[in-house]
Parts: sequence; C-alpha cells; structure tokens
Amino acid sequence: MCGIVAYVGYRQAFPVLLKGLKRLEYRGYDSSGIAIVHKNIEIHKKKGKVAELENMVKGKILNSLIGIGHTRWATHGEPNDTNAHPHLSKSGRIAMIHNGIIENYASLKQELLSKGYVFKSETDTEVLLNFIDDILDNNNCSLEEAVCVALKRVVGAYVIVLLDEENPDTLIAARKGSPLVIGIGKGEHFLASDASPIIEYTKEVVYINDYELAIIKSDELILKNLGNEKITPFVQQLDLELSAIEKGGYDHFMLKEIYEQPKTIYDCLRGRLDIAHEDIIMGGVQSHIEQLKNANRLIIIACGTSWHAGLIAEYIIEELCRIPVEVEYASEFRYRNPIINKGDVIFAVSQSGETADTLVAIERAKEQGAMIFGIINVVGSSISRVSHAGTYTHAGPEIGVASTKAFTAQLVVLTMIALKIAKEKQSISHGRFVELLHELNTVPSKVEKILSDISSIKAIAAKTSNANSFLYLGRGYNFPVALEGALKLKEISYIHAEGYPAAEMKHGPIALVDENLPVLFVATKDAYHEKVISNMQEINARKGRLIAVVTAGDQSVISLTKDLIQVPAADEIIAPILNIIPLQLLSYYIGVSRGLDVDRPRNLAKSVTVE
Ligand code: AGP
Repeated sequence: MCGIVAYVGYRQAFPVLLKGLKRLEYRGYDSSGIAIVHKNIEIHKKKGKVAELENMVKGKILNSLIGIGHTRWATHGEPNDTNAHPHLSKSGRIAMIHNGIIENYASLKQELLSKGYVFKSETDTEVLLNFIDDILDNNNCSLEEAVCVALKRVVGAYVIVLLDEENPDTLIAARKGSPLVIGIGKGEHFLASDASPIIEYTKEVVYINDYELAIIKSDELILKNLGNEKITPFVQQLDLELSAIEKGGYDHFMLKEIYEQPKTIYDCLRGRLDIAHEDIIMGGVQSHIEQLKNANRLIIIACGTSWHAGLIAEYIIEELCRIPVEVEYASEFRYRNPIINKGDVIFAVSQSGETADTLVAIERAKEQGAMIFGIINVVGSSISRVSHAGTYTHAGPEIGVASTKAFTAQLVVLTMIALKIAKEKQSISHGRFVELLHELNTVPSKVEKILSDISSIKAIAAKTSNANSFLYLGRGYNFPVALEGALKLKEISYIHAEGYPAAEMKHGPIALVDENLPVLFVATKDAYHEKVISNMQEINARKGRLIAVVTAGDQSVISLTKDLIQVPAADEIIAPILNIIPLQLLSYYIGVSRGLDVDRPRNLAKSVTVE
C-alpha cells in the first residue's frame, strides 16, 4: 500500500511529484523517492517521510517535464535508502515504481541470477524491473511489449510505472489488484494511487482496471490490454473539492475528521432519510430489495474498523430483519474455503474500497454465485466496481490513517439498510420503524453536543496517557464499540489495548485487573445496563481504574467512578454511533500527549492494498 504518483506535461515535474507524495503519504511512509529524466535518468530517494527527501534534494536543479514518485510501505526488505523506490534497471535505461506484491519474485529472481543479474535491494520490485529489462535486452521489442510479456509471467498484485531514458516523453503504466487513476489535463497527464494528488489540477480522470496497460505522453493517453488490444478510456468527473483534503486549520486530519462527523452523518442521511414520508430512499438497496429481504443469510466481509462496523450491523440486522448474519474477517474468509449457498448475500464493507483482503474475498464469493453489495466510502474504488450493487457512505476523503468519520457513516448506512429491509419484510412494527427514523434524524445534533464539551475526555486522557495497557468493555451493541475504541488506542498511542464483552471478563481477563489498569466501560443505558453495572462493580472490587461512557444524567454509576464521559440519550440501536465519538477523541488526545504522529502512526497505512 505504497503511494504512486507520476507526471508528464509542460510543468516542472519535481514540484508536482513532491506535492503528490505528500498527499499520498497516508498510504505508507517508510521511504520516498522520485526519478526524472534530464538527458539521463536521475533518481533521488530517502528512508523516512517525504520531508526527508525534500530536505535531501534542497538546492539541487531537478529540471524535467516528466517523472515518477513513490512513498513506501515496506513489504519486501526493511525501510532503507536502498530498498526505497524508484529502482533502476541493470542497463540503467529504465526506472520503475511499484505498489503491490510480486508473489513469484523468488523464482523470477533465480532465473535472473542464473543470467548474471546482481541485485542492489531486497525488493520484489527490482526483480520485476530486471525481468522486464532482460526481455528488452534479448528481444527486439519496445518497452511496452517487454512489459506485456513480463506481466504474463507475474503472480501477485501490482501498479507499476516506468520511465524510459530512450523515450523521455513517455510513461508506461500497468495495473492488477492495486489502484491507479490517471488525471487528464490540457497537454499534461497525472498518475496516482488515488485522486487526492490530482484534484488541484483536473477533475477529469480515468480509473485503470486490472490487466490494463497505459502509454502516456503529455498530449496522448493510450489504453491497451495485455493482449495489445486498444481500450477506449472511460473518462469520469471527480466530485471532490481541494478543501476536503486540506487540514482546514486543525492540527491533525484525525481531529478534523472527528469534528466533521455532524456534517458527514448529515450528508449520509441527506436524501435518504425521508421523515415526511416515513421511509428510507436508497437506490442501490431498492434495486435489489427482493434479494436482500429474501436473503437466507447475510455475510459481512471486512477488515479492521470496517469489520467492527459489520459486527454492530450483525446485532442490528438480526434484531430488525430477522435474517441470520455472519461477520467474517476477509483475510480468513478468503482462505477458509467458506460455504456459500444460493440466496446468500455478501456485504463488503470498506472505507477505501481497495483493501486487498476484502477485494479478493468477495471475488471468491462472487465466483460461487453470491450477490455482492458494497458499502464503500471512496467513489470509483475497486470494490465498488466489482460489487453487483451498493451504497456509498459519503463521509468524504478520510486522510487520517485511523478511521473515524467513515466508521460512523458505515454505521448510519448499515442501520438505514436494515431499517429498509425490515420495513419491506414488515419484520418490525411501523411505529418502531418511524421511532428509529426519528432517532437517526437526531444523531448529527447529538454528535455536535458531544463535541461541544470534551473537557472530561481531555482530563481522562491526561490521567491515562502513561498507561501500559488498557481494557475496553461493553455488552450487546456496545461490545463492538469497545473493540473499536481499543483499536483506535492501539493505532494512535501504541498502548496495548483490548476490547472485550464485559461478561466475558470473569472467564479470564479479569486476572489482568489491578490499580494500574484503566478499564473503560461503554455503559450507556440499554437492555444490558443492569448487568453492565454489576460488571463494573466486579472491576471496582479489584481496584481497577474505572472509566465509563454513560448516558447523560445517569445517576446509577456516579458511585462507581468519577471518570465519567456523558453522551446524549439514544435508542440502543443508534447509541453506538454516538458512543464511539468520545473513544475516538480519547485515543487522539492520548496519542498527542505522547508526542506521536497521530495522522501517520508507525507501521500503518490508510489502505492495505496487499494481502
Ligand atoms: C482503521 O483505523 C484502520 N485504518 C484499518 O483497520 C482499516 O479499518 C482497515 O484496514 C480496513 O480498511 P477499509 O475500510 O478501507 O477496507
């Protein structure tokens, strides 16, 4: 899940590449580099963040109208200057950047070693590059033809972009599994892993599909398949504003995105929640309502935070629609040889729409005849293109690596889908349906209320930021909220944190409890409340450092702890959307107080495009 950017046109390439790499840095920040052509190919690359590269080339004359750039998330070979991209072929003629994993690189490497090739880096990328170089050397063919021949031998995922010293006005790019979008300007073209480096120059884009090859000049874009047949580019308009990918005065994208939630949740409801006609209008759902409401089983496939949204949806869909739901880790589902029956429907939940585990898992399910319904945030992303139908979550670009606003938008969309199916199935009363519509309608203002006073959250963050471990507990709908709260803290503060069903504590983890362990309960009023109170007393009895997210005005917990975070009252089905907000903020303020880069946590990347 590296970041790829390239340019050919009338502007100086280096400033365009550098700015693009900074926009893509959330995709990986182990090292970065660029290659340009000025008579010969020039490569500048450096371990660490893009700022390191920028400092390294300060004062250098980097004169070129064409170039490629890369920011790395290391898969093969540790983060260092040598393994950084771009790589240069043995002949020195070609420079290449790559996002993905070449699974059969070891056998290709053996072939090349036996031909006397020597490798500078430990990367699979340098192997593919020299494999192409070898074909070029030994066949009287063009670079484009050599790339096609080579890619027919490759197993794995890739976006590659090549710069050729002998054709300094042309870029060659190809894709399989990893994302690539090309921006079409007047007399210039931009290439990138996603649209964020492109929108300030043009809104006209082409999303490249698997097994497609692009030959790009400043005033020409040719698309072909690996069989050398031409393909007509499908040009789309980006519906994105530059301000959406700027920090907007906030210290971090994560904080900006947390504070955007009243608006993103409103945007998610807008045009779908029809209070006046007591209905929910969702085109993707309506067009497949028969299959959805008659589904024998719903299988939700996702990873990370999206998987937690799926877990909450399991509770909601089974409660409202009376359809059995299974929630699967995509990476496990993919290799488990799962049983897919006729009538099963798959929900693929993903913010980026590019997560390789989820993409491959749904392709497997699709091969077995399942209907794939995507719940996706990034418009035009791969999962949205391979799904049979779907719904966008309209949370806007999410730049902070830790998912926040996309999660609450996923919950809102999954709740609306469940309500729509329940209405069509009449599996709940009309009164209950309307009650929940109104509850959903109040969420944006309730989130605003939470964000209007975060003093208790900041105080608790200050008290617990030196903890070595942290426990998050909840029951029912709040159990996955506890899991998500723990994930946020792990990602942002590097404190080991665990989410757990509160009642499960006494079956083992309660052994962890002592006066040093913060134990946070998501304890808002719901059907489980009395039980949760007794679980809190069990922790209190063992001197655990009790913290609780409670319904505003709830007197039943005051005697148990002073560390209370109050949230507005809400129906138990809707409450998870509110209850996660304080946990997002808690992890943010603990991360900041520990002096960490909360937007680019170590070892992580925003979109995991490799298995
Ligand atoms: C969440 O904060 C993480 N960034 C990560 O767990 C993420 O949710 C996971 O990689 C799934 O990503 P997706 O929603 O883009 O598919």
